[in-house]
Amino acid sequence: MMGISLYNEDFFDGVERIADASVDLIIADPPYGLGKDYGNDSDRRYGKDYLAFSRRWIDAILPKLRPSASLYVFLTWQHAPEVFSYLKTRLLMVNEIIWDRRVPSMGGSTRKFSSVHDNIGFFAASRDYYFDLDSVRVPYDIATKKARSRSIFVGRKWLEIGYNPKDLWSVPRLHRQDAEREDHPTQKPLAIVERMLLASSPPGGLVLDPFMGSGTSAAAAAMHERRFVGFELNRDYLAIAKSRVSAARRSQSKRSEQAGSVAGEFRLI
Ligand SMILES: C[S@@+](CC[C@H](N)C(=O)[O-])C[C@H]1O[C@@H](n2cnc3c(N)ncnc32)[C@H](O)[C@@H]1O
Repeated sequence: MMGISLYNEDFFDGVERIADASVDLIIADPPYGLGKDYGNDSDRRYGKDYLAFSRRWIDAILPKLRPSASLYVFLTWQHAPEVFSYLKTRLLMVNEIIWDRRVPSMGGSTRKFSSVHDNIGFFAASRDYYFDLDSVRVPYDIATKKARSRSIFVGRKWLEIGYNPKDLWSVPRLHRQDAEREDHPTQKPLAIVERMLLASSPPGGLVLDPFMGSGTSAAAAAMHERRFVGFELNRDYLAIAKSRVSAARRSQSKRSEQAGSVAGEFRLI
């Protein structure tokens, strides 16, 4: 059973116990500076204060990365330009991924366009970063495969095993009735985090989440046999994360009993 360590602790204290150059993947979903209530004041940092906070967690976490490691950070358009610029002075920027939250049209803003996406930065510690494309390919549906049946396409590897996901990820946000939804105001869909984890960490590798919330990344690590360390200030969220890890472990052992099970089945397009 892979080591999964969940701490009800301030990341800035806990990170000091993590060995330098030991982490394969960081999945960071920090407070966005939008005033959400996480049972603490962490989302009440604005403007320069928010940028100082961002630089502080980045400076604390980067020494932990192995040379082949990657970092994904969730942000919004308000702060992504400045935070990406800062990260680019320290890491290689690989992609900006747009998470299209599939928000339905419902009136919305009258003085600007409705914002329906998050900006995810994908960075690497070096050009030799780990990336397992085959684990996250998107299979073609039967109709598309049929449409590619001309002789020039026959036998093409990508047609058989699926295509490389694009940098626009269309995944519905978790509405209140969603079976996956926990009692956390900004829980991320598991499918998004699973894709990051499968593509960017080797089996058995170490994943670090400094702002764990309801433990989406912890559950993904338990399902896909990665080691994991996560920090969360709010005790109630930590309890949710623990129960998600237990459930993920149960379903993981069931899956490994079933011969022929395939890792990483997505509802992503
Ligand atoms: C955007 S939410 C993360 C949501 C998470 N990705 C999920 O899917 O549930 C950010 C979380 O960081 C926590 N947090 C804020 N500052 C923290 C700190 N210094 N150390 C640990 N946790 C912190 C907040 O309590 C909040 O739950």
